[in-house]
Amino acid sequence: MVSVNNNGHSTALIQVRGLNKTYRRGGEEIQVLQGLNLDVDKGDFVAFMGPSGSGKTTLLNLLGGLDVPTAGTISVAGDEITHMSSGKLTEWRARHVGFVFQMYNLIPVLTAYQNVELPLLLTRLSGTERRQHVEAALSIVGLADRTHHFPRQLSGGQEQRVAIARAIVSDPTFLLCDEPTGDLDRKSADEIMALVTELVDKHAKTVLMVTHDPVVATRAQTVLHLEKGVLVEAGKPRQDVAVGGGA
Ligand SMILES: Nc1ncnc2c1ncn2[C@@H]1O[C@H](COP(=O)(O)OP(=O)(O)OP(=O)(O)O)[C@@H](O)[C@H]1O
Ligand SMILES: [Mg+2]
Repeated sequence: MVSVNNNGHSTALIQVRGLNKTYRRGGEEIQVLQGLNLDVDKGDFVAFMGPSGSGKTTLLNLLGGLDVPTAGTISVAGDEITHMSSGKLTEWRARHVGFVFQMYNLIPVLTAYQNVELPLLLTRLSGTERRQHVEAALSIVGLADRTHHFPRQLSGGQEQRVAIARAIVSDPTFLLCDEPTGDLDRKSADEIMALVTELVDKHAKTVLMVTHDPVVATRAQTVLHLEKGVLVEAGKPRQDVAVGGGA
């Protein structure tokens, strides 16, 4: 169950408390996040919306341990990430977070297979185990027949599928998607969202996604708006599942 009002202890998988982020540029201070609270449970699928510059990417970067807050805490499955050293954070990120970006961010000189295998090279898995995981991930995203294609030989929608396979291959605790359909046409966007929905419903993934597209947002169980540095519930529950349907 997603909540934006809890400022005490909870049992949620992801617990964000009093999150502040202020950027300083020259003499200027930009307060982006201002005391933001958020609870996300395992199996939740939440969409973040809000105008350009409202801090959506800033929030995802903090949740993924790519940036550190000015104040406040983020804990995930009991690990408080806001005070980890950068070395520990890198390890934590590799184990717990799958990132999906608008521009796919695939390595052009690597095949689909090799792109998906990349995160596993940081683990202790054997070559055989890696192959099993890569093949399973590519099959989940429907690209079992494109393993040896290079990114330039794939459509945008297929590239994003490879990126999603790469994000799920290490079975992370949660997925962070920053405008995953932002560069796709309607049909490809719908296909990507059908896939993300399937990851939540069939594979019990936890997904936090930024989108500008209200149609895309309706796929999520909860829609939250970033307004003046905090999250506001505006969510219309998905028709086919109850809010907080995940265990
Ligand atoms: N590294 C940085 N240094 C200084 N200011 C920054 C930095 N990153 C972001 N900002 C500022 O913080 C604010 C929020 O930026 P952010 O990228 O999080 O917005 P966003 O909601 O993702 O926007 P968009 O919808 O355009 O992607 C903006 O005013 C931006 O200029
Ligand atoms: Mg952004």
